[in-house]
Amino acid sequence: MKIAVLTSGGDAPGMNAGVRAVVRSGNLYGHEVYGIKDGYMGLVEDNMILLTHQSVSGMLTKGGTFLGTSRLPEFKELSVRKNAVKNLKDRGIDALIVIGGDGTYRGGMELAKMGLKIIGVPGTIDNDIPGTDFTIGFNTAVETIVDAIDKLRDTSSSHQRVSIIEVMGRSSGDLAVYAGICGGAEFIITPENPMNKEDMIDKIKKYKNEGRRHAIVVITEKILDVHQLAEEITEKSGFSSRATVLGYIQRGGAPSPDDRILASRMGTYAVELLNDDIYGVCVGIRDSRMVHLPFANIIGQKRPKNELYSLVKKVS
Ligand code: F6P
Repeated sequence: MKIAVLTSGGDAPGMNAGVRAVVRSGNLYGHEVYGIKDGYMGLVEDNMILLTHQSVSGMLTKGGTFLGTSRLPEFKELSVRKNAVKNLKDRGIDALIVIGGDGTYRGGMELAKMGLKIIGVPGTIDNDIPGTDFTIGFNTAVETIVDAIDKLRDTSSSHQRVSIIEVMGRSSGDLAVYAGICGGAEFIITPENPMNKEDMIDKIKKYKNEGRRHAIVVITEKILDVHQLAEEITEKSGFSSRATVLGYIQRGGAPSPDDRILASRMGTYAVELLNDDIYGVCVGIRDSRMVHLPFANIIGQKRPKNELYSLVKKVS
């Protein structure tokens, strides 16, 4: 078989390890593997290269994506997608593995409807893809956030401040919940776990009266203006407060051992599904096992609320 692989959407640590696994296992099974540059853009512009064992050497440990990535809203247009399909067919490529998040999967499903053999591999720090317990990059991003919380706690405690830390996640609170629990946050605010501002400020006042020296608030992006919240806490609670938006630093860095293993398993599993003539599906990990589900069962579906959410109230 000739198999192509691309990474698309927000980059995530471990994407390179995933591509490496596709190439190495693909070659082992006798397939040729092509890497498409810059996500769906490279597919439309016919920008792809043959990848060999050697071309992915050293990629296991590297952050980002050496293939490049992009967000391509034009891919929603049929004419653009037709061009992409033609480019693959002209090269005799039989199947395409797409590594990315929600937008990547939507593009993949449309290509599957046009007759291509597509496999989706979940690669996003947000952990917001249904059908899998974890996405590639999430574990590394949690480590990055926990490291930041630990550092912010030092300075918060020295200055007797409330530190607000805004993390990524789009509409998923998993990054905030995992990192907030690991970082001992007093408050974890997510789209799934909203919090009444006044109640929170009352609790912070109580902490002040109890003689506590700091408090940590971890909050998912796009819920509210964290700098305004810091001002309000400063005005009303007796603590001074500062907000830190962690931003894109959460997407960078070498993948953690867990992400290297997850990406290696998922990339290999994607190739093995194609060996078995299974396609139009997305790879996942469930209870430590590799699984796959059709695109239609993933896209637009809600992820079940993570059971760690119930832990938040008990340990914070
Ligand atoms: O990769 C997902 C994500 O990190 C979201 O958490 C965030 O909202 C978004 O990407 C930002 O992406 P962009 O690179 O398009 O600004």
